[in-house]
Amino acid sequence: MGLSTLERYRRHLSGGRASLGELLGGDVEVGSSGAWVHTESGRELLNCGGYGVFLTGARHPRVVDAVREQLDRNPVATRLLLEPQAGLAAEALAGTTPAGLDRVHFACGGAEAVEAAIKLARANGRHHLVSMTDGYHGKTLGALSVTQKPLFQDPFRPLLPGVSQVPFGDAAALDRELALHPGSACVIVEPVQGEAGVVVPPAGYLRAVAASCRRHDALFVLDEIQTGLGRLGHWWGADREGVVPDMVLVGKALGGGVVPVSALVATSTAFAPFDRDPFIHTSTFSGAPLGMAAAVGAIAAIREDGLVDRADKLGRVLLDELGHLVHEILGDRVAAVRGVGLLIGIELDVPGLAGELLIELMTAGVVANHSLNADRVLRLTPPAVLDDHEVQFLLDAFERAARAVLG
Ligand SMILES: Cc1ncc(COP(=O)(O)O)c(C=O)c1O
Repeated sequence: MGLSTLERYRRHLSGGRASLGELLGGDVEVGSSGAWVHTESGRELLNCGGYGVFLTGARHPRVVDAVREQLDRNPVATRLLLEPQAGLAAEALAGTTPAGLDRVHFACGGAEAVEAAIKLARANGRHHLVSMTDGYHGKTLGALSVTQKPLFQDPFRPLLPGVSQVPFGDAAALDRELALHPGSACVIVEPVQGEAGVVVPPAGYLRAVAASCRRHDALFVLDEIQTGLGRLGHWWGADREGVVPDMVLVGKALGGGVVPVSALVATSTAFAPFDRDPFIHTSTFSGAPLGMAAAVGAIAAIREDGLVDRADKLGRVLLDELGHLVHEILGDRVAAVRGVGLLIGIELDVPGLAGELLIELMTAGVVANHSLNADRVLRLTPPAVLDDHEVQFLLDAFERAARAVLG
């Protein structure tokens, strides 16, 4: 007999990753459909994790059909000829973003979209980057330079020069920082911070950021890799405040839970350097037809199934019900329950308790997320396709898990 998955992880992938898998019960995922993950041992887990990827659920038929059709026709393109799916995906995406954001550069992972934004900012003469406390933008070297957490940054220094940090939600602090870099700064910010533990800024914050950027001639990059395409109950976090950034970044849900794909969407002014020279920033698999078909399918699925509205309504119900439940069971161990749409964070006051709750939720049949920049916050990113039965399953599992952590 061959090795087990756990043994292969330990031997060839990462010992630490193997140990984490063991801590979570050692089961192995082998299939998925809709809101459910199927495991090797025959369990069915409700997927409220996946770090925000599964807004449309797993293997949404609209996405699978589009990808399958493309797989049989032309999965990877020569890149020398023009190719229709890239144009269709860009058109579909630009049909959802705030008016004026209609130029698209595709990539695969989220951090790649961040890299593209940093390079585009530099090509526009904006060499100083300003990011936010506990903001998360990925772990490639450029993205890591604006993901200002010592745990992730310190082993990899030196990082990019010319990066400063201001507190998230503090528009006055940002304005003071930008005043030091007139005409040469680029701000990167999330509309609601995900990995920081679902941090919601004060109302009007994004409008103030946009005004500051205008005042000091800075570029405004809104990282919607986790929040975009409906997760917040709006197509974009930008729409909650009616702002039009210079660039919006998208990933995760864009591939419809089927193919990894991400994108930078920019105004024509910001995009001009990439428009002039198509070889200034390239990657072999940028705009590969399989990912483009997935993006077209995902956007169609979100539109046709009314998932943006559904994320709003479902999010309100879950926030309310989960809030009552955890406060009732865990009492003053709960620091806060907060969220927007289907991005929900439960912050616990006791060190280690969020991790215990994550493990107990897995035992109770629910996959959740930890938060990379906030270890006291358990994060839920449920699909917008949950039906009433699945909502009840989540609440029941949550109740069992919360009682279990009390021992
Ligand atoms: C807001 C935000 N930006 C960027 C990233 C990085 O994306 P990826 O992990 O696909 O590189 C993430 C991932 O969680 C994210 O939440």
